[in-house]
Amino acid sequence: MLPHKQIELRLQAAVRTVLPESDVSVVLVRPCPDTKFGDYQSNALMSLAKTRKLNPRQLATNVLAKLDVSEWCEKVEIAGAGFLNFRLLPAALAGALQAAARGEHLFFDKAAQPRTIVVDFSSPNVAKPMHVGHIRSTGIGDALQRVLRLLGHLVITDNHIGDWGTQFGKLLLGWKQILDRPALERDAVAELERLYKVINAECDANPARLEEAKRELVKLQAGDEENLHIWREMVKLSQIQFDTIYGRLGVKFDHALGESFYNPWLGEIVADLLKRGIARESEGAVGVFSDGSLPPREDPFLVNRDGEWVADPALVRKSDGGFNYMTTDLATVDYRLKTWSPHEIVYVVDDRQSPHFRKLFLTFARWQPDAAKGVKLVHVGFGKILGDDGKPFKTRSGDTVKLGDLLDEAEERAFKIVSEKSSDLPEAQRREIARVVGLGAVKYADLLPNRQSDYVFSWDKMLALNGNTAPYLQYAYARIRSIFRKAEGTSNIQHPTSNIQLAATEELALAKHLLNFGLTLEAVAEEYRPNFLCNFLYELAGRFTSFYENCPVLKADATTRASRLELCNLTARVLRQGLETLGLETVEQM
Ligand code: ARG
Repeated sequence: MLPHKQIELRLQAAVRTVLPESDVSVVLVRPCPDTKFGDYQSNALMSLAKTRKLNPRQLATNVLAKLDVSEWCEKVEIAGAGFLNFRLLPAALAGALQAAARGEHLFFDKAAQPRTIVVDFSSPNVAKPMHVGHIRSTGIGDALQRVLRLLGHLVITDNHIGDWGTQFGKLLLGWKQILDRPALERDAVAELERLYKVINAECDANPARLEEAKRELVKLQAGDEENLHIWREMVKLSQIQFDTIYGRLGVKFDHALGESFYNPWLGEIVADLLKRGIARESEGAVGVFSDGSLPPREDPFLVNRDGEWVADPALVRKSDGGFNYMTTDLATVDYRLKTWSPHEIVYVVDDRQSPHFRKLFLTFARWQPDAAKGVKLVHVGFGKILGDDGKPFKTRSGDTVKLGDLLDEAEERAFKIVSEKSSDLPEAQRREIARVVGLGAVKYADLLPNRQSDYVFSWDKMLALNGNTAPYLQYAYARIRSIFRKAEGTSNIQHPTSNIQLAATEELALAKHLLNFGLTLEAVAEEYRPNFLCNFLYELAGRFTSFYENCPVLKADATTRASRLELCNLTARVLRQGLETLGLETVEQM
């Protein structure tokens, strides 16, 4: 067990002795925000004191009297209004690193109580090309599911593909009347997109055409064999395109239960909502309206129009009898709960859908209050990708940027850079480095900002070898590996060593940072924020650089050399594990 965890358990025991009735699960030990004051800190005593009207410093003193952490820490200090500051003993630090060197851990513990978590991410729509925006849900979702799995949770990933809906009326009409077979064979999704655009424009101009498209949709929904056959073909062709992109991105799903999967249940669900008085008819459609339980400002079933609050229902059935995105999502929550009994369902979807998810979660809670109590439903939202002009990122001609093209360009640009820097490497190797670096750069640039902020897409910034970028971190990894290649060339290294000694300031700083890997992963999991891990790795690479500049490794005497090599090795392992958890690959040489 890691030192901070041991300290935390001792602290919780001490609190329990002083305040036997208290809930000690809130007593946590976290990295000290300012290392001047210590390595770890606990601020829990202040809130415990407050709710009990005790003097916080007095409580801290009483707890300290019962706390023995001398195996790991110097004398514990009470600071400010009642913080406890802990400073690790170098021996405890070295001990934790030695355990890692022996393979006992890599600075994180598996969750004591694993949770079952469904992660709904990526979820593109059939018959449309995946575009640059899909990198967001796909990358953030994949990083989160990797972090959760690493921490020992039972994760179920599900790609909620948009494979059902009104667009298929137009697509079917287009397929039957204007399909260009050779074009379909060349680039299926582009041809499907063309069909949709042409028919859609015709429908806008001509109501009779729209009626025709609707008839195709009704036939599909009624199970018409021919239409079902064409629809399956369209889904299959799109899936091939999705799979190509997922293959390149290294993203896999446990399930890809598209919207169509839930079709059989939609009618019953609407009937049930009506029967329970949760939904009602309005202008021929069926919707769920505000129940007045929230103040208007917080009520997603209301919108403010010209200073007045008016109804903004969650529609579950259209006036033509078709069902809505909401209906499918209600069926999906129900199915997931019945099938996997998750503790949590996480939706990694664009922030623009936040009203949808607020309505969904509230409607589900009204529909199945008991089931809703047992599950945490979370919308993990994110902002937009912008171009230099501050507007949504587009190609020069103003089209949406296709994800496949973007990934090609990333590899191409990385290849140029790699070829300039390492012209001596054979081309195949340069291509492989460019693939890893190019794709890594795009993914990392998307994970690094706070997910809710919009960010400006910049090739130069994401591919820079300096700064908080994928190439910088991948290079840091490759550089450490090169130390080992050199070491093997010189003399016998004692490796692995269990004798780690930490003396220099930079060694201590690096070691302490390694110890925070697990806490960082836990913070990512708790707030669904992969950027915490990005920043941790960036700082790790920085601390490694200071260490390497100030502490000779290969030229040091045998004992120091072995100890420092192990520090290099642990840094490389954490860098690699961290990057892999973000969905980035590494190479041994760059
Ligand atoms: N296909 C949807 C879209 O492109 C995203 C689906 C997200 N997942 C969900 N369960 N609603 O907007």
